[in-house]
Amino acid sequence: MDEETRQRIADMDEEQLHRIANLPKVELHTHFEGCAPPVFIRGLAAEKKIDISKAFKADGSYAYRDFVHFLEVYEAATSVLKTPEDFARLCTAVLEQSAENGVIYQETFLSPDFCGGGDVAAWREYLHAIQEAASVAERAHGIVLRGIVTPIRHFGPDKAKRTALCAAETAGDWIVGLGMGGDENKGKQRDFAYAFDMAREAGLRLTTHAGEWRGPEEVRDAVNDLRVERIGHGVRAIYDLATVDMLAEREITLEVCPGSNVFLGVFPSLDQHPIDQLRRRGVKVTVSTDDPPFFHTTMRDEYVNLAKTFGWDEAILTDINKTAAGAAFCDQTTRDAILKKLEPSS
Ligand code: HPA
Ligand code: ZN
Repeated sequence: MDEETRQRIADMDEEQLHRIANLPKVELHTHFEGCAPPVFIRGLAAEKKIDISKAFKADGSYAYRDFVHFLEVYEAATSVLKTPEDFARLCTAVLEQSAENGVIYQETFLSPDFCGGGDVAAWREYLHAIQEAASVAERAHGIVLRGIVTPIRHFGPDKAKRTALCAAETAGDWIVGLGMGGDENKGKQRDFAYAFDMAREAGLRLTTHAGEWRGPEEVRDAVNDLRVERIGHGVRAIYDLATVDMLAEREITLEVCPGSNVFLGVFPSLDQHPIDQLRRRGVKVTVSTDDPPFFHTTMRDEYVNLAKTFGWDEAILTDINKTAAGAAFCDQTTRDAILKKLEPSS
């Protein structure tokens, strides 16, 4: 660490950390159900008399051993969300939480597999309910939400095609992208090229999880085989500097989720996380929470931890928010409104 950064960290006082925590934030990478407070899911399970007690620890938080088990617990928690109304209630809870954290614009991964089993007509009903709830939250808190339809990698390429069809049929001002999640260790990015091509042809913007669990090759595959303009995580690109430079040259934006990476053991601690190194080498990095209650994080915590660890001050974090606004999949009018809110004077 250079002397200037060391000094910046030493000079940070509580007041500055408070200002940093309160910055307006643009968050590009969240999984909708993964933002559900455990108390919300437990309440819904009780209402519907569904026993998912194994998904929780004694203290009420989500319980899982590792990433693959996390995905199982995630799906168990999601199983209590049955109707469009359930998803609307979830949307209200999620956006209230995000707004409390200073998020002014959020993109979230929405899964037609969990909303009507991949059927387009059913998906439209779920989407309608979610959008209505998001409009109410926007009026109440000023937060803007947009949806990215997510194929789930471990469900395989055939399901991904159905998912992409749901995405293509509802593409527009609100469903703005396609972004694959799920188990990165299953199959290849190119197995999903058909789904991504369909989405691209429908005018959707593209992102995929890569380089969270697998290495630089997976990141290159995402760019070359799926032609994404953003990557979820991408952080393991750091193990090959040529890949890092490719990301910088092609202006691929990384949706980095430092707290998630540390919690799941992708890196042992935040000071060993490559986000600062990637930024310094010219990669467009942004900051998100992924699945905040699962990883015991919030956007406020992320910002404060990055400030304390890397000396990121208000100027750097505002710059990162502008990068995120620039890479957001929304239309230009929405982007201009976000950028205006990021100006320190506003
Ligand atoms: N990573 C990948 N897939 C997911 C996640 C995640 O954090 N959450 C839900 N699906
Ligand atoms: Zn993710």
